[in-house]
Amino acid sequence: VLEQGVVMGNLPKVTTDPNLLEEQARKEMVLQRGFEYIRGSAGEAATMHANRLAFRSWKIIPRMLRATGERDLSVNLFGKKYRAPILMAPLGVQGTMHADKEIGNARACAELGVTFTLSTSASTGIEELVEAVPEGDKWFQLYWPQDDEITASILTRARKNGYQTLVVTLDTWVMGWRPSDLDTANIPFIVGVGDDVGFQDPVFRRKFAERTDGETPESSPVLAGLFWVGEVFSGNNRSWEEIHILRKYWDGPIVLKGVLSVEDAKLAVQYGLDGIIVSNHGGRQIDGCISSLDALEPIAQAVGSKITVMMDSGIRTGADIFKALCLGAQAVFVGRPVVYGLGIAGKEGAHSVLANLLADLDITMGLSGVKSIPELNPSRLARIQHPG
Ligand code: FNR
Repeated sequence: VLEQGVVMGNLPKVTTDPNLLEEQARKEMVLQRGFEYIRGSAGEAATMHANRLAFRSWKIIPRMLRATGERDLSVNLFGKKYRAPILMAPLGVQGTMHADKEIGNARACAELGVTFTLSTSASTGIEELVEAVPEGDKWFQLYWPQDDEITASILTRARKNGYQTLVVTLDTWVMGWRPSDLDTANIPFIVGVGDDVGFQDPVFRRKFAERTDGETPESSPVLAGLFWVGEVFSGNNRSWEEIHILRKYWDGPIVLKGVLSVEDAKLAVQYGLDGIIVSNHGGRQIDGCISSLDALEPIAQAVGSKITVMMDSGIRTGADIFKALCLGAQAVFVGRPVVYGLGIAGKEGAHSVLANLLADLDITMGLSGVKSIPELNPSRLARIQHPG
């Protein structure tokens, strides 16, 4: 535990208190606009708060005298063993958060055996990341372009470079109504920093040059940014019948991110997907949306035996991960906490946040009488709503 978490005697650079992390990032992040981007939630942040409240309504019932001195946190996903049920969620434009950007974050993940997911909107290119951080497991997240040729090019590059699983995000064909970005006029800034995956793509570059009479993303970054956003964020025309297109360019597991209803989870099974991520995008898309944890339980009951179910949105502690796994998730993704750490102290900050989460989960399991992940099930929880 000491090896994973805070080393006794050294004051940590990033707080270990999940309730203080956002405040520390607000004070200490050099890139303030990056902070507002991370903090952002849709509307009045009701969904983000619901994500947290849902975790609070479940309580762990610990068991005693079960010889849990040694714990095994490993899980099996798509036939491969992973060290722990924690993955780094795909978060775009990490160049807005710290100069270490995705490279620092991926390095921190690799050091801890945590899988890193590269976003389509990353500030780091597909090849660039693998060259900088060849070690560690990597998944790739797709914002599905309108243009199948660009889709094919991006997916082929990602697969060729060893990204293992494809995560297709369904809930962001347009960005949600996010006051923290709107009030700070943050969007042009965000778009301007976050297009390396797209800008480096040869098919995107050719099409952009054709449309603009020879411009390149370097000669005209704002125009290229707009072209890119129009290409990947206006895709609400896609339907279940088109999912098979992705299989042409991706022979590994394909996972849909942003599933919140039992009906859609069943469709994911019907259309042959390998997995789903129950997610409301950290409450950044629809205000007043069902919390991810509330959505998880019925979905896992309906399809958990047929498809790999994972979740994200609101994970802040080891206990949260314990609860999500009891309710049927096989793994969870973590978003904001890790990039607050990145924003505060670069790679070391991301490392601290992830290491602390691993240690917290490990301790919570041990104290609850659980030695390994398959022992987690609903009988270890009680739902108790305290008023107020
Ligand atoms: C995101 N998220 C996200 N999702 C995605 O599929 N592609 C992306 O590029 C991004 N970008 C992004 C940026 C930032 C700053 C945040 C906070 C989130 C959503 C992300 O993958 C995940 O669903 C949420 O972050 C999970 O919620 P928590 O852990 O932040 O509460």
